[in-house]
Amino acid sequence: MSDRPTIALIGPGAIGTAIAAALHEVGRTPLLCGRTAHPQLILRHDEGEVVVPGPVLSDPRTVAHPYDLVFVAVKTTQVTDSAGWLAALCNKNTVVCALQNGVEQQSLLALYVNGATVLPSVVWFPAQREQDASVRLRATPRLTLPDAPQAQAIADALSGSRCAVELSSDFLSIAWRKLLQNAAAGLMVLANRRAGMFSRADITQLALAYLRECLAVARAQGAVLHDNVPEAIVDGFQRAPADLGTSILADRQANRPLEWDIRNGVVQRYGRLQGIPTPISDILVPLLAAGSEGPG
Ligand SMILES: NC(=O)c1ccc[n+]([C@@H]2O[C@H](COP(=O)([O-])OP(=O)(O)OC[C@H]3O[C@@H](n4cnc5c(N)ncnc54)[C@H](OP(=O)(O)O)[C@@H]3O)[C@@H](O)[C@H]2O)c1
Repeated sequence: MSDRPTIALIGPGAIGTAIAAALHEVGRTPLLCGRTAHPQLILRHDEGEVVVPGPVLSDPRTVAHPYDLVFVAVKTTQVTDSAGWLAALCNKNTVVCALQNGVEQQSLLALYVNGATVLPSVVWFPAQREQDASVRLRATPRLTLPDAPQAQAIADALSGSRCAVELSSDFLSIAWRKLLQNAAAGLMVLANRRAGMFSRADITQLALAYLRECLAVARAQGAVLHDNVPEAIVDGFQRAPADLGTSILADRQANRPLEWDIRNGVVQRYGRLQGIPTPISDILVPLLAAGSEGPG
């Protein structure tokens, strides 16, 4: 990869805008590839705002050549629809960085990237889209990536920017730890309540039982996680502001498709493969799937 790699970003929503702004501030403005055309992107943070010059392109046929580095920040439910962008932007020399939740980004994207290297990441910061399509950054941006040779290209692209990048030799465990937190957050969808609901004793009990089920599956998949992870996650929700939401709850309330499969279904699927009973998932997952897709 050259000293000045060509960089594109697919999916300039909450997380995509934050990363595009971080790149732009250090002089590495990416090509912006979206679904909805916008003249520019705006990221608002505690000290002000960053305007990323656009336009946001909406037609993959306008891409003239493959790019060196491609960040993917569409929801996992939108990957199939963004296949045209991935086909136009990727070849076998491209490094793709998935800015998405879950533990399956590589298998999900591999189908569409013309043999490019796909690296997953754990996205540690919350960001939310406002009514005017600007994005509100809720914490300092931070990513964790696997300590693979190609990850250095991503760390280099974000070096000196407001987004910190950590490379981990045990990415699998970190990704599953985040997945467990996301899985428990799925309970908010079914209650239609924010983090405050975890102060209830009955929800605490349910969340702990569900997280122990998730932990057994995570360990069977190779994650090294301490016995106290369920308590630590529930404790985190209990200490959070009562009105803290989660993107899957926001999607449910806006009647958008839910990332239920990569956040909750995955535990049930891998549990079945490993012969681990998942009685709580067996109730939660169909309810989340039906909430996402209907019918009814
Ligand atoms: N938001 C958070 O705080 C947060 C934190 C950690 C992890 N994550 C994860 O990060 C990922 C992205 O989430 P997000 O919250 O940033 O989602 P988002 O705000 O909904 O952004 C998705 C973006 O993708 C665009 N898009 C949709 N379909 C497309 C297509 N076919 N081609 C190109 N662009 C397309 C959307 O365009 P439109 O403008 O047309 O909708 C939007 O700009 C998810 O996996 C999420 O779970 C999010």
